Amino acid sequence: MTESSLGIQNANLRDANPSDLPELTAILNQQIEETVNSFRLGPISGPASLQWWAAHQDPRFPILVAPAGGGNASAGRDDVSVAGWASLSPWSSYEAYGKTAEVSIWVRPDFHRQGLGRRLMEGLVGRARNVGHRVLLSRVEANNRGSLRLHELFGFRTIGTMHQVGEKFSQRLDVVMLELLLDGEQ
Ligand SMILES: CC(C)(COP(=O)(O)OP(=O)(O)OC[C@H]1O[C@@H](n2cnc3c(N)ncnc32)[C@H](O)[C@@H]1OP(=O)(O)O)[C@@H](O)C(=O)NCCC(=O)NCCS
Repeated sequence: MTESSLGIQNANLRDANPSDLPELTAILNQQIEETVNSFRLGPISGPASLQWWAAHQDPRFPILVAPAGGGNASAGRDDVSVAGWASLSPWSSYEAYGKTAEVSIWVRPDFHRQGLGRRLMEGLVGRARNVGHRVLLSRVEANNRGSLRLHELFGFRTIGTMHQVGEKFSQRLDVVMLELLLDGEQ
C-alpha cells in the first residue's frame, strides 16, 4: 500500500512529547466519558496518565501524534495542537508475546473524516515494522463501524467476535478482534 493509494495527503506525524500529555488524555477522556469506543469507565488523569505516559517511553510502544494545523486537515485551528494520536501497547507481559502489540487510535471528533485516521494507522504500522513487531492486534467494539473500516483498509483481518465481554452505560458490548501480520502471512 502506498500513501496515495490510501488517500493520505500529508503524513506529517510526529512522536508525542510530554507537553502533549494534557491534550492526549483530553482526547481519550472525551471518548471514555461519552462513548463505548473505550472500555475504560472513568477518565485518566494525574498519576494514572503519568504512568500511561511512562509505559510508552519504550521505543517499541510509541505514541504518534497528528498535529492540528498539519497537512490540509485542519487549517485555522490555533486552539488545538493535537488533532489525533495513535499508540502501540504491549499485548501481554509474558515475554513470548514480545513481538505482538496492540493498536489504539483516537482522533478528535471535530477532525473526523479528514484522513487523519489513515495517516495515524499508516504511521503506526510503519513504526511497528521498524521496531520489529510481527503482529498487530486490535479490539474494536462491534458497532464501531468507522474503526472497523479503517482497520480493514490497512489489511487487518477479523479473527472473531467476543460476545458480551464488555458492559458500559448499561449496555452489554461485543468486541471484534482483528489482526495484522506484518510479514504479510495472513
Ligand atoms: C476511527 C477513527 C480513528 C477514524 O479516524 P478518521 O480520522 O475519522 O478517519 P479517516 O478520515 O482517515 O477515514 C478513513 C476511512 O475510515 C472509514 N471511516 C472513518 N470513519 C468512518 C465512519 N464513521 N463510518 C464509516 N467509515 C468510516 C472510511 O472508509 C474512511 O475513508 P473515507 O473518509 O474516504 O470514506 C475515528 O473515527 C475515531 O477516533 N473514532 C473514535 C475513537 C475510536 O473509535 N477509536 C478506535 C477505538 S478501537
